[in-house]
Amino acid sequence: MCGIIGYMGNKQAMPVLLNGLARLEYRGYDSAGIALLEDGEIKVFKQAGRLANLQERLSGNGFSSTTGIGHTRWATHGRPTDYNAHPHSDCGGRFVVVHNGIIENYLELKKWLISEGHIFKSETDTEVLPHMMEHFYKGDLIPAVSMMIEKIRGSYAMVVLSTLEPDNLISVRKDSPLVIGLGDEENFFASDVPAFLHYTRNVHYLDDGEISLIASNRVEIFNEMGQGVSKPVHMINWEAEQAEKGGYDHFMLKEIHEQPASLKKTLSGRISEDGCRVDLQELSLDVDEIKKIKKIFITACGTAYHAGLVGKYAIESLARIPVEIDIASEFRYRNLVVEPDSLVVVISQSGETADSLAALRDSKKRGMPVIAITNVVGSSIAREADHVLYTWAGPEIAVASTKAYTAQLMSLYLLALYLANVRETIPEEESRQIILELLSLSSKAQLILDKKETILDIGLGYENCKSIFFIGRGLDYAVACEGSLKLKEISYIHAEAYAAGELKHGTLALIEKDVPVVTVATQPFLFEKTFSNIKEVKAREADVFALAMEGIGEVQKEASQVFYIPETHPLLTPVLSVIPLQLLAYYVSLARGCDVDKPRNLAKSVTVE
Ligand code: AGP
Repeated sequence: MCGIIGYMGNKQAMPVLLNGLARLEYRGYDSAGIALLEDGEIKVFKQAGRLANLQERLSGNGFSSTTGIGHTRWATHGRPTDYNAHPHSDCGGRFVVVHNGIIENYLELKKWLISEGHIFKSETDTEVLPHMMEHFYKGDLIPAVSMMIEKIRGSYAMVVLSTLEPDNLISVRKDSPLVIGLGDEENFFASDVPAFLHYTRNVHYLDDGEISLIASNRVEIFNEMGQGVSKPVHMINWEAEQAEKGGYDHFMLKEIHEQPASLKKTLSGRISEDGCRVDLQELSLDVDEIKKIKKIFITACGTAYHAGLVGKYAIESLARIPVEIDIASEFRYRNLVVEPDSLVVVISQSGETADSLAALRDSKKRGMPVIAITNVVGSSIAREADHVLYTWAGPEIAVASTKAYTAQLMSLYLLALYLANVRETIPEEESRQIILELLSLSSKAQLILDKKETILDIGLGYENCKSIFFIGRGLDYAVACEGSLKLKEISYIHAEAYAAGELKHGTLALIEKDVPVVTVATQPFLFEKTFSNIKEVKAREADVFALAMEGIGEVQKEASQVFYIPETHPLLTPVLSVIPLQLLAYYVSLARGCDVDKPRNLAKSVTVE
């Protein structure tokens, strides 16, 4: 979604703002702008299109300003145009605002402000904010912000710059992320840490309702009651380079190759000394509470939802707890039947997805404890959940989620085993065997990556396909869903995942020559059934690319191409079988000349409904 940066310090603000926005490009945007406070005036430069265009327009300008704000906009209300780009100003140019989120009641506010004589220049919801600051300002920015947020409904992270208080920047957030970077004689506001990581690693994570002020040499944070609050300083321990491409052509390829490391990190410190049990003390779940759990709801969006499909299998088969899984945008509107002793697991890489955050809040309102599985420390979902199981995958920049997905799988296996250990639903020896296999996944993932050229060759053959089907049974179907999403979201080829056993109930009518069918066939006890599906689609002249597990069956007899993943416990195959599908999507997207890291119409974190 939108990216925000604010700077107040001892450096020229323009380059700091533009560099910061460049680090936030991954959030998805379609216009960009900055505002500089110079000689008592605020100068605004903004336009539709890529940030590079704005940088080019501003290059050579020697603004001496050391104070400013910047924004990359992902259009929600109002088309991506120059005048809809942020920052937005009030009538007199004394208040300038950048905002991430949606002001749900902006139409009524705009009507009221126009009746008060305010002149609007854009179609955006955001523009009501500077005009409201103009209306409420009586000599102090903070009370004006307080009065403004009492009037607005919706989600926001905003930064206000004013000529009337040139030594301060003010921010407030609700449901959209905002952090403070603490520098030496300089401070930052930003939507996400990479925006200022080059300058400082010290961060305050802001909570909903908190109004913050930064000057070059001080930071003040106030809660909703206007009381000063002190916040812990988090030290960011990953390198700015980690958010760079690290020598790969694209963030996505880099992140696919980081999976052996992220799997290992997500596992580290969570296995008992004797290697027989999982240790998730960090969840601070009460043992008696765990033994009483009667149902688990899993809810998430997109790739995180596909990880949840695997989590359902793992929890049900190991911990013997019934699991219901729902896409978060459906879960939050269900008339849920809540039984006592239910637990909710919300999975979200960014920890900011609006539907998943809403599902979390709805669950808590219904009295159900929530475990969050997320990749972003200090994210809204992390801070509002009762318990957090972090995926230690490091920053994931590419819109297409890869290492976060396999780290989510690892976390779900750990959770399932932990519940099973506490409820004693599996013998200790079985737990030890599964843990040994979990520990081997990192090196087995590397073996797959070492054979990525095989996938490249297969991918090149799919460049001009109109439609591709992904099929599988059980856990293989869950992986087929993820493979289908990966391919369609970055190559723009229509792709569909189908339960292999369901083909004959309609979809088989679409299978014909030149319609490739990617078949995931790693489950030993389902192999014969899935093998018959391969023959079924081959009989309709489909080209079959099969993913199988070493030592299981002779799939090469029927499939045109085969990729064997290293042998592992049947429950754990998704961690490995998804990697060839991630690579397939990457290579097909590349062959089609698509923007692999920033695919059209999509954003890395969907913080609006
Ligand atoms: C994944 O490749 C997609 N970019 C998208 O489906 C994503 O998984 C979804 O928006 C959920 O995001 P989250 O995990 O940050 O909540």
